[in-house]
Amino acid sequence: MKHRLFSDLEKRGESDLLVLPFWEGGKEAASIGALKGKVAAALKTGDFKGKKGELMVVYWEGEKEPRALLLGLGKAGDATPESMRRAAASAVRWAQGKKVKSANFIVPKTAVEAFFEGILLANYAFAELKGTSLKENPMVLLDSVGLVGVEKSDESVLEKLTTIGEGVFFARDLVNGNADDITPKKLAETAQALAKRSSRLKATIFDKKKLEQEGMGLILAVNRGSSTDPYLIQLAYHGDPKSKEHIVLVGKGITYDTGGLSLKPTDNMMTMKCDMSGAAAVLGAVRVAEALGLKVNVTAVVPSTENSIDGKSYKLGDVYRAYNGKTVEINNTDAEGRLILADAMSYAAKHLKPTCMIDIATLTGSVVIGLGEEIAGLFSPNDRLAKDLLEASEKTAELLWRLPVHGDYRDSLKSDIADLLNTGPGRDAGAIKATLFLQEFVGDVPWAHIDAAGPCFLTKPKHYHTTKATGYGVRLFIQFLEQRSS
Ligand code: BES
Ligand code: MN
Ligand code: ZN
Repeated sequence: MKHRLFSDLEKRGESDLLVLPFWEGGKEAASIGALKGKVAAALKTGDFKGKKGELMVVYWEGEKEPRALLLGLGKAGDATPESMRRAAASAVRWAQGKKVKSANFIVPKTAVEAFFEGILLANYAFAELKGTSLKENPMVLLDSVGLVGVEKSDESVLEKLTTIGEGVFFARDLVNGNADDITPKKLAETAQALAKRSSRLKATIFDKKKLEQEGMGLILAVNRGSSTDPYLIQLAYHGDPKSKEHIVLVGKGITYDTGGLSLKPTDNMMTMKCDMSGAAAVLGAVRVAEALGLKVNVTAVVPSTENSIDGKSYKLGDVYRAYNGKTVEINNTDAEGRLILADAMSYAAKHLKPTCMIDIATLTGSVVIGLGEEIAGLFSPNDRLAKDLLEASEKTAELLWRLPVHGDYRDSLKSDIADLLNTGPGRDAGAIKATLFLQEFVGDVPWAHIDAAGPCFLTKPKHYHTTKATGYGVRLFIQFLEQRSS
């Protein structure tokens, strides 16, 4: 999507639509000059009030556009960056419904960034949507937008938001793709392709043979039932070679989760192509960090395999050995995410000299029961890391809520025959117990765990998420990295 800036209304170019934002009560959110007369009737009749999310189209003659869309922003006093993102997004979605290719937006001066971000993030469709009806009637996205009232001095921030948006789309594309296409190998190739484009990125791929040599017994166990090979993928960006600071982002890369022998019921399996959303987020974040040239050192680490069912599947009651030597008795093969993360995190802790490590995973249904699908759970024994992530989350509105790493529950992971069970018995505190399991593999590295089973993949598109896959985490990590950059 291209954008053009128009310092004032008269100078704007021709387009298919003009979006006019109003506060509740009918006051325009930015000066609309002589256009006021043309929309006065809609306001005077009370047909349009400017309520949050309200939309009304007005057709007119003699303007640069054949129509205007009055956009309600809600009460001026209640406005937040997120309410502005959503408002802008609702105009974009209306435009998509009318197959409009270009639009001018009058942009409220106090919310240029949020408004533009809402436009950008909503202007997404999954390119490979299948089905003949969709082919005949494809989703039309905006090719170009005109931003009225935005100054040249804002250009650099708009460029930056565009780059971040591309990273979000990168992650959404990976999650929306068929699990049969987005395989562990494909994720490895994706990392390699990114590294090929830039000398500042380095991809390191461990294939199955290397995983065997290294003794990554948990990734290999989960992979046993799969007809595709597992990989451990690293994508490193050294943007601050002088600094010893090294942020490691670990993302769960289960490309499809059947549950294994602890097979999921049909309905629960329906969404399980989303189980590599953590991988998509960390690869997307490193891609964007490089594109922006952030002064940070950051490495994405992605353990990736399917969790399939087969005669070779790993078995309940059997014991497998992790990379760090700890043994794990499997009592639920559907708790596979923590197993592959365990090998990846103990490897990273030992070899990558991380100054901090954050993992993101669609790890438990339990966290969705607790927080719903809009909020991810944040677990960390480290107050500073937790505080920084919560601060980043507040900025990007990728919601996080800190939950306790309650050590007393560790007893439930005791096994009679191995160091650990992979799940606690019972369904209570499932997300906390998963965290306690992971903690056994991070050593003393400052660490935070994000359980994003809810917000990575919505039950229905909403706001500026135009597909179920949201790209959750990319913006959050970039905000966090910026906070940490020198
Ligand atoms: N990938 C799932 C978690 C999940 C659930 C992600 C819903 C997205 C939406 C994970 O591997 C899983 O199956 N977790 C189990 C753990 C249990 C067996 C201890 C769960 O939450 O039911
Ligand atoms: Mn599972
Ligand atoms: Zn899973």
